Parts: sequence; structure tokens; C-alpha cells
Amino acid sequence: MDRLMHLALIMDGNGRWAQMRSLPRTAGHSEGAKAAVKVTLAASRRGIRYLTLFCFSTENWKRPKMEIDSIMGLFSEEFDTMLSEIMKEDIKVVHLGRRDRLPYPLLSKLDKAAEMTKDNKGMTLQLAIDYGGEDEIERCVRRAIQAGNKEISYNTLLSYVDNPAIPSPDYICRSSGEKRLSGFLLLQSSYAEIGFYDKLWPDWNESMIDAIIEDFNKRNRRFGGI
Ligand code: IPE
Ligand code: IPE
Ligand code: MG
Repeated sequence: MDRLMHLALIMDGNGRWAQMRSLPRTAGHSEGAKAAVKVTLAASRRGIRYLTLFCFSTENWKRPKMEIDSIMGLFSEEFDTMLSEIMKEDIKVVHLGRRDRLPYPLLSKLDKAAEMTKDNKGMTLQLAIDYGGEDEIERCVRRAIQAGNKEISYNTLLSYVDNPAIPSPDYICRSSGEKRLSGFLLLQSSYAEIGFYDKLWPDWNESMIDAIIEDFNKRNRRFGGI
């Protein structure tokens, strides 16, 4: 049985969670941020080595400006409250995705957190913000060409992902019952286990990490073998 080393989560369903309560969508994002903190700490405490959270996609810029501003503001706020917990838990923070379109205050917070936590030895928390798998593949190809590679294999491309030190995910889970990847970790997901959970993201807590580990442990990964 393989151990669950890298868990990647598509945090979906904030809007529907709010809608069901006749609240603005932003209230869903705010509860979703709280769930992300609970889930992160639980993953670290259960011995997961890498946790990737899909926070904002390259396509999410299509949303109304007011919603985007509120989401970006939340990331910044949540970060301030979380940084001391992150340090206590010995978690290392890295950003995944485009840097050029992020609001400067958020980008500088991400950079500061990465610098502050770079020597931490616990779980690595990879925050996918303005992330798209198609976009990352284009970056990989560009970097591989710029570095002068003549032959570009799959493994060459993998070595040019945004964070090449992070292994591909073992298990990708999505909340809210939607059954698609929406561009998440396209290059890295070839042999990931996939799981879809009906619970909307703001309702996630520590117990979901236990359920995920239990579910993953039942999988039989064959990688093409028998
Ligand atoms: C996920 O929740 C959060 C982001 C994509 C930023 P949604 O906002 O997509 O929630 P639903 O899918 O509309 O319920
Ligand atoms: C995917 O959720 C992106 C994140 C969870 C950040 P979306 O809600 O944006 O995805 P689609 O549009 O339903 O595929
Ligand atoms: Mg959604």
C-alpha cells in the first residue's frame, strides 16, 4: 500500500453553500477560507507531506470584479491569521501559478511567507492561486525551450513545472459533487487517484482528511502493472 504523500484538493462549492443560506457568495468564500485552515492543519497533523489547494483558477477572472476583489482580500487576511499556525506546525508555503496578475499586496505576502517558511521541515503547503494546468504546461514548454533542450520528453516537461521539487499528486479530490478537474495539475495528474466528495467546501473539516486517507488506503494503484 502506498502512503498518501501528496494530496491535492479542488475546493469547490462556496457559492452554492452561500446560495442555500440566502447569503452573498462572498460569505461562502469566507467560510471556505475557514475550512481551508482546518483541513490544512489536519493534513499536516496526519502526516501528509504535500498539500496543494486549488484556491483560484486562471478562468476565475471571468467572475464579477466584486467577487474577485473579495476573494483576493480574503486570501490576504486569512494568510495573516494563519502564518503563526503555519510556523508552529513547521509548514512550508509555496505559491503555484501565475504571478503577473496577482494584486501586489497578496503577492508580497506570498513571497514573505515562502521566505519565512523555506527552512521548515514539516508539510509543504502549495497554494494554487491564478493557476491553470494549460497555462502551466505552456510555461513548462517555454522554459524547456529557453533552457536549450533539443529533445523534450514528458520528464523534461515535468522538470520545468512551477515547483519541480514537489512530486506529482497521489490523490486529487474535489468537493461539491462536481466531477471534473477544471485544469488542475494537468501535467502531474496522469497517475493520480481521483475522488469526488459531495460535501460543499465550507462544510469540510478535519474529519474529511480522515475519510480521504481511509479512501486512499483502499485504492489499488497498479501504474499499468498487474
Ligand atoms: C470555489 O467555490 C471557490 C473558487 C472557485 C474561488 P465556487 O465559488 O466555485 O462555488 P460554486 O461552484 O459556485 O458553488
Ligand atoms: C475550480 O472551480 C477552481 C477552484 C476550485 C479554485 P470552479 O468552480 O471555478 O470550476 P468550474 O468552472 O465549475 O469548472
Ligand atoms: Mg465552483
